[in-house]
Amino acid sequence: MADTVTSFPHRHLLGLASYRAEDILVILETARAFREVLERPIKRVPTLRGITIANLFFEPSTRTRISFELAEKRLSADVVNFSVSGSSVVKGETLKDTARNIEAMKVDMVVIRHRSPGAAHYLSNCVQASIINAGDGAHEHPTQALLDLLTLSDLFPTFEGLRVAIIGDILHSRVARSNIYALRKLGAEVTVCGPPTMMPRHVETLGCSVTYRLEEALAHADVAMALRIQKERQQGNLFPSIREYHELYGIKMEHLERYPNLRIMHPGPVNRGVELADEVVDSERSVILNQVTNGVAVRMAVLYLLSGIHQPSEIAENT
Ligand code: CP
Repeated sequence: MADTVTSFPHRHLLGLASYRAEDILVILETARAFREVLERPIKRVPTLRGITIANLFFEPSTRTRISFELAEKRLSADVVNFSVSGSSVVKGETLKDTARNIEAMKVDMVVIRHRSPGAAHYLSNCVQASIINAGDGAHEHPTQALLDLLTLSDLFPTFEGLRVAIIGDILHSRVARSNIYALRKLGAEVTVCGPPTMMPRHVETLGCSVTYRLEEALAHADVAMALRIQKERQQGNLFPSIREYHELYGIKMEHLERYPNLRIMHPGPVNRGVELADEVVDSERSVILNQVTNGVAVRMAVLYLLSGIHQPSEIAENT
């Protein structure tokens, strides 16, 4: 790992569109090393001691926010948390000014979630700190896709030829976009499936197949990645009713019976009874909580690699 870590070529993680397959594989390899640390009784290494990280969350989050904070603390970084309520954003302060003020307090890295696509990119032009995109509107959610890849690599020997069906609200999904970029770079076959009203125009130019029929998507998939319907980003009614959506696009126990090797993923939060039937969420075929577990190790890897502290054997020596 030493050679690959010393040559990691990025300062920011704004999205996976600009990352090469080899960059993604280095992150996964580093995450596996950190996962071993997380299995120990004392789950802490001094790797980022002296580094200060600000978590700027302008949108709600449970998994990503807790996971980043845990990852930062496991690496011994100093952590400051920012959320809109209780901040000067409610008094009208801009994103740029908020970030520059936080940076003036000598912050080294910024994790940002924002409703606007491009917010992380914009910030990377305003401040000196390393920027990590924790989800920007419907654009990208790179660390989610990375933890999905780590979970997939636990289940399957290779990404080459792996068949992944991404099902649901593709139009508004930053998770879908980051996963399509990453999976295609690693040689997986991606099919997107959902109602026509939730399918981005020309999505096939990203290298994926498109179907509007759930059965067709599942019949050719090793993994089904269900997505939440993002009501907060939708304008107007994109489907007649929740009941009809579940009928047409919800994954149910009958699907697991029909496709006995199919594995189920979901980035969360899950709308039970909508994109996945209740029993499917809790079934043995679901790896949703494995995804959450892998999130901490993946975020440790990303923080470590972007921090610039790339000393050979760093992880091993510090543990
Ligand atoms: N998967 C995900 O981003 O979940 P949160 O919105 O809870 O962070």
